[in-house]
This record gives sequence, C-alpha cells and structure tokens, in this order.
Amino acid sequence: MYILGIDTSCDDTSAAVVKDGHTVLSNVVHSQIKLHHPHGGVVPELASREHIRNIFPVVQEALKNAGLQLQDMDGLAVTIGPGLIGSLLVGLYYVKALSYATHIPFAAVNHLEGHILSIFLEDNPPPFPFLCLTVSGGHTNLYHVLGFGNYRQLGRTLDDAAGEAFDKVAKLLGLGYPGGPVIDAMARDGDPAKVPFPRAYMSKESLDFSFSGVKTAVALFVKRWQKGERPDTTGVTVNDIAASFQESVMDVLVDKTLRAQEITGCRHICVAGGVACNSRLRQRFLQAARERNLSVTWPRPEYCTDNGAMIAVVGYHRLKKGLKGDYDMDVRSRFPLEET
Ligand code: KG4
Ligand code: ZN
Repeated sequence: MYILGIDTSCDDTSAAVVKDGHTVLSNVVHSQIKLHHPHGGVVPELASREHIRNIFPVVQEALKNAGLQLQDMDGLAVTIGPGLIGSLLVGLYYVKALSYATHIPFAAVNHLEGHILSIFLEDNPPPFPFLCLTVSGGHTNLYHVLGFGNYRQLGRTLDDAAGEAFDKVAKLLGLGYPGGPVIDAMARDGDPAKVPFPRAYMSKESLDFSFSGVKTAVALFVKRWQKGERPDTTGVTVNDIAASFQESVMDVLVDKTLRAQEITGCRHICVAGGVACNSRLRQRFLQAARERNLSVTWPRPEYCTDNGAMIAVVGYHRLKKGLKGDYDMDVRSRFPLEET
C-alpha cells in the first residue's frame, strides 16, 4: 500500500512516499530556515506563503524520486494539527483538492502521532508497549505507547517545549535559529557543570516538564556575564553556558523518562522529535540504558525533525482501519492526541 504523506505544520514543507507504513521510497523536505533565520524564529505569515510556493514542487519531487505517479497512491495523509493555522491550511486544502480530483482517500493526521510512529520507519522498531519521549520545538510529551492508535500520555510540558528553550537561549546568545544544533555543537567544547542552572522537577512524582525557568535563569545570567559581573561569571565561556544549559535540560528529560520507566515497567524507550538529534541526549540515554539493561532507540536525524514520511506511517494505519478524512474537516492549532 503506497501512501503520500504531507506535513506543513510549521516551517518545513515536506512530502514522502512510504510503502506499507515502513519502507521510505522518497522523503523530500523543503526547509525554510534561511527565510526565518534573520528573525530568530518562525514568522507565521512568511511560513504559510512559502508553503504555498513550495507544496506543488515538493510533492512532484517526492513522486518522481519514488518512481511513481499520483495515480499509483492508495492513500494520502496530511497533518491537520497541532501547528500554525496558516501553515496547516496549505497542506490540508492541497490534499483535499488532490483527493477530490483523484478519488484517492486521505487520512487526517495528528503531528504528534507522526513523531511517535517515526520509529517504524527504521528496521527493528521496539515492540509494544514502549515509552516515547517526544521532544521538539513545539512539544515535550511522554507517552506510554500500547499499540498503533493506542497512547497514554504520562507527562507534558507546562510551559515551553525543550526545543523552544534551545531556540530561545540561542537567540539571546546571538547564535541564530534553530538553536538546537548550534548549542549542541558549542556544548561539546564547554563544561556542563560550570554554571548551576536550575532543574525543574516539580514534585518527585510528577512526570510533567517545565523549561521556562531555566530559560529565564540563562537570560539573567547572560546579562550579568555580558556586563562582566563577578565572581560567578569570571572565566565562563559561551561554550560553558551552552553546555550547562543543555545539561540542565537533559537531566530533567532523562530523569523523568527513567521515572516513567520505573512506574510502567516498560523495558523499551524511544526518543523522537527534533531534540532527539541532540548528541548529549543520545549519550545520556545510552548510558542510562546500559546501567539499567533497557533498550533505547531513536529514528535517524531526518526522521526526527519534521518530515512527510512519519505522517505517511500514521496515514497507513488509519486508512487500514477505515479512518478516512472528510472534506469538511478543519485544521487545529491545538490537537491533544486523545482527541485524534
Ligand atoms: O521536530 P521538529 O523539526 O519540529 C517541531 O515539531 O517542533 O523540531 C525542531 C526543534 C527545534 O527547536 C530545534 O532547535 C530542535 O528541534 N533541535 C535540536 C537539535 N536539532 C534540532 N535541539 C537540540 N539539539 C539538537 N541537535
Ligand atoms: Zn514536529
């Protein structure tokens, strides 16, 4: 079964052809990073205009790279939320028109389910049930994944997403957008113990996250550091700030996931979303897995960041169950997984 998956939820226009919910025949991503870089973040109006320009060529390229035609598709899949309304609308209305003209059914997909199922694009995905930490620019959620379409949310961020904190800290250090990759790289030459930024655990039992406090702590520290205030900013490099901030985020992500592991008894952990590309995160999870005899996996980087292939995986499972999208369906900026 061939599915054409499309995602325009934020600042990437992406389309992919995936066979049987697993085999990627093509995966094309048109990034808008250059467009948004000067603004230090995504500008919604610019993003939707750019999606309109690019959706047709991106889909054409995905079909061409797969060596297939639109008529060969058994289904279409498109993200309807959560995300930026203007961006989501471009993908949904494009797919509705394609479906109407070709009579190919389409599936309306929750972007978060896409991240959770992105691990099925790899060989040897974990068996159900597994824990999935979804960490991206828009989301930080911890799920108990019991089966396809069967998810129990264990925790979520109460304010900023982890990736958002990386982007904001990079912006205030003047490092540009997106912040994750550059902080990851700079942190390699820094001391993660140099600045004791706060870790927000809330109560010991809580599996929820909060990253706005550490972001504010970094902002206040950087102000004093730039003025050369002593004594604690003396000898601190920008690499030390990057490493110390990154470590404070990773401590909480790893500790809460391990706490969820203890509660559920799940032996398999998956990390998905853009922040799952982070090299320190991978190191920390591998170390924890070794110590506790757990398995930990993540998709390759291009399936961690936003992509059409993960949307096609969800579309495959939804269409197999007969869950087709309607022409009167609308996009949703907020879209909890339970309402999917
Ligand atoms: O999944 P994604 O492409 O988009 C959303 O659904 O949000 O994730 C993008 C986010 C950005 O915030 C970016 O800074 C972060 O993922 N990111 C990273 C790394 N690579 C991307 N964060 C930390 N370390 C990285 N290596
Ligand atoms: Zn995403």
